[in-house]
Amino acid sequence: MSLDNKSDLQKLFIESLQNDNVFMIATTVNTGFEWQTVDECREKLDKNVRIVKERGKIFFNVDWSQFPQVEDMRSIDNVFIVTDVRKFEFGGISKEADLQLFKEAVHNDMKLEKALNAWKHITGFQGEMFPTIEQYNSAKKDYALSNTIVTSTTPREKKRGQDPSNAKRNEILRYRVTCERTGTHLFESSDVARIIGGELQDKYFWLVDLSGYYLEIVCKVTNNELVTQLRVTHESKHRRNIMNFGPTTLRATVCYNLLRLAHPNPGDIIIDPMCGGGSIPIEATLAYSQTYIVSGDNHPKAVYRTKSNIDASSPRCKIDLLCWSVSQLPFKDSFIDIVVTDMPFGKRSGRTTDNRILYKQFLKELGRIMKPLTGRAVLLTCDRRSFATALQTAGNLFRVTKTLGVNIGGLQAAVYVLRRTDIHYEQFEPKTPKHNVKKPVTRDETDNNAVVVV
Ligand SMILES: C[S@@+](CC[C@H](N)C(=O)[O-])C[C@H]1O[C@@H](n2cnc3c(N)ncnc32)[C@H](O)[C@@H]1O
Repeated sequence: MSLDNKSDLQKLFIESLQNDNVFMIATTVNTGFEWQTVDECREKLDKNVRIVKERGKIFFNVDWSQFPQVEDMRSIDNVFIVTDVRKFEFGGISKEADLQLFKEAVHNDMKLEKALNAWKHITGFQGEMFPTIEQYNSAKKDYALSNTIVTSTTPREKKRGQDPSNAKRNEILRYRVTCERTGTHLFESSDVARIIGGELQDKYFWLVDLSGYYLEIVCKVTNNELVTQLRVTHESKHRRNIMNFGPTTLRATVCYNLLRLAHPNPGDIIIDPMCGGGSIPIEATLAYSQTYIVSGDNHPKAVYRTKSNIDASSPRCKIDLLCWSVSQLPFKDSFIDIVVTDMPFGKRSGRTTDNRILYKQFLKELGRIMKPLTGRAVLLTCDRRSFATALQTAGNLFRVTKTLGVNIGGLQAAVYVLRRTDIHYEQFEPKTPKHNVKKPVTRDETDNNAVVVV
């Protein structure tokens, strides 16, 4: 097969078809942290693994035996098995004719069995994956009946599907197809989902269930390319640690990515001085168990929330917790290896006017407590202006080694990675405005939307 006109995703998919034990995996990651996932993938799977990176997504091939390592990855939110990647030549004249191309592709040569069997194995689905028409007809009758009873007695459920491992042995697979679409087309995403969903039903005799599904098939149309994938994670992995959520609770996956940027080593003392509900320290203690974690907040309710989250978490979760203010932290000079925190930035927590003062006091205090030369800080904020001013005030105490533009719950935020210089705290000099912090960029901002093979 000639690979000349194939996209990077197609090439990766074709490679996965050469071996029955190899699967193409797609994972989602918070936008801006893609390189952290690339690094984690290489660390946990294979340093030479070929990766296709897109905005908010990472694709790679794994041997079946490596799937537990994929499940262990902490930087990713959702995992999918890619079942098909193909390109179409849409005529662009008639919607029906363009949709017919999807129908023919599913009918004639989209082979899902390899990925479906893997999905069944991974998710623990015990039901009937390939039912007969008779099984389908009888299940459809029962399903229609039970649905009438359910809708009349229970309120509408959230559309997040059901855990496949809860399916009974004789239950036939319930599924839904969703579609995300980018580019100019005559059809809508819902048309693609309807056409592909209908064709799959004719082929496999599954039951369509938009809210109580076990299997979600996600189709992604980008211009003339279609990527079809099976969702493996019933629930996003970012929900793993926290029971008691607050207004600004950070995703566990984002916390991991922030911690990763600090490169923790065994024995390091890590602090989160504005811990809110404790999402960063809890992730730190679970992901980097050989470090020593201290966290605190100036709001008693936040400290209480962190305490309840620690108690509800794993017994491995060992964190020292205090009520304190970041302008006066209870540490001796040059003591802390790593600071990772999510600063109040004015939309959901804090006020911009307060931030100007708070950020300056905070950075100066960090300059005092962090170890010169080796101390690292990873700070997340949306209030770049206050941060830039504070950094000038902290002068030559820090060197900015990296800045990332990231998306946090729809807000454009920035992550600053700082290294403590060897300047003694008492000898620091504020910087003049010409040293303004540059606008945060991702490592490949120039082609952030493009597919990059690394
Ligand atoms: C953005 S929230 C942190 C959210 C946290 N990462 C989570 O996931 O729950 C910022 C936190 O900074 C705390 N804070 C604000 N000013 C502070 C100060 N002077 N000292 C300590 N904490 C402070 C707030 O109480 C708030 O909980």
